[in-house]
Amino acid sequence: MTDQPRNDGGLVAHGIDTTRPSVARVYDYALGGKDNYESDRELYRQILKVAPETPVWAKANRRWLSEVITWLTADAGIRRFIDAGSGLPTADNTHQIAQRVNADASVVYVDNDPSVVAHGRALLLDNDRTQFTAADLTKPDQVLADPAIAALLEPGEPVALVMALMLHHISDYEETRAIAQTYADALPPGSYLAITHACNPGDGGDVDAMVTELIEKVRHAFPNLAFRSVAEISSLFSGFELLDPGVVKLGDWHVPGGRVDEDPPADVRDAIYGGVARKPAS
Ligand SMILES: C[S@@+](CC[C@H](N)C(=O)[O-])C[C@H]1O[C@@H](n2cnc3c(N)ncnc32)[C@H](O)[C@@H]1O
Repeated sequence: MTDQPRNDGGLVAHGIDTTRPSVARVYDYALGGKDNYESDRELYRQILKVAPETPVWAKANRRWLSEVITWLTADAGIRRFIDAGSGLPTADNTHQIAQRVNADASVVYVDNDPSVVAHGRALLLDNDRTQFTAADLTKPDQVLADPAIAALLEPGEPVALVMALMLHHISDYEETRAIAQTYADALPPGSYLAITHACNPGDGGDVDAMVTELIEKVRHAFPNLAFRSVAEISSLFSGFELLDPGVVKLGDWHVPGGRVDEDPPADVRDAIYGGVARKPAS
């Protein structure tokens, strides 16, 4: 079945182009979701030819998110979250994870994909501690001026800023660093920064070869996709104190006494790394 633009429930009115793959919808398909179209599924099939472990990466990323949000809420006492590049709603979203621990937890989601904006807003209609901001995260000054974000960042309480699988959609590394730094600077002392990112170890090995081929395969659809070294990803946390175990493969990332009972992903070629860091109190 193909999905052509049509007058069906206002997709076109929302600016949703079903004929071109979207990162959010390809990822939704990788997670077993239903908010995707033939263009997304076709690209995903191409991706699988090069990187058959893609669904494992996607699942590991959601496992990481669940573990991090649970720990931040339960152990670090965080009640305010910004989920930047939130993606399409899936089985367990940031506000649901956080509010299971603390019903007072507030979340502002940010994304600029029209499909995410439409589905995200619909999901959040019945949750008065959750908001959705449609914005381009590469324009931090505009994002930080958004009333929902500005209110969450009001002094007095630390915030957790989550940027999961988002920053690698900015092609230029220095620009990526500058954007991350602008957000980091805006966070109150004691806040947390949680990042997952596509990684190329750059060692000429298996993973290096795979991600090089993968980038070529998806370039026509996602021209800005950038896999970075562990050192480059680590430096996105500049000025923050990295929690153990640092920036590592997602399957190796667990909080002390990790609260999610799932086994780490099987021993696959791993190209997604992540870390969590705390902004010093002064
Ligand atoms: C692969 S999905 C990750 C979703 C979710 N954070 C997760 O890790 O499960 C990446 C998301 O980042 C969003 N994104 C990428 N670049 C963005 C930008 N410049 N501004 C806002 N959102 C962006 C995409 O629309 C997509 O929803």
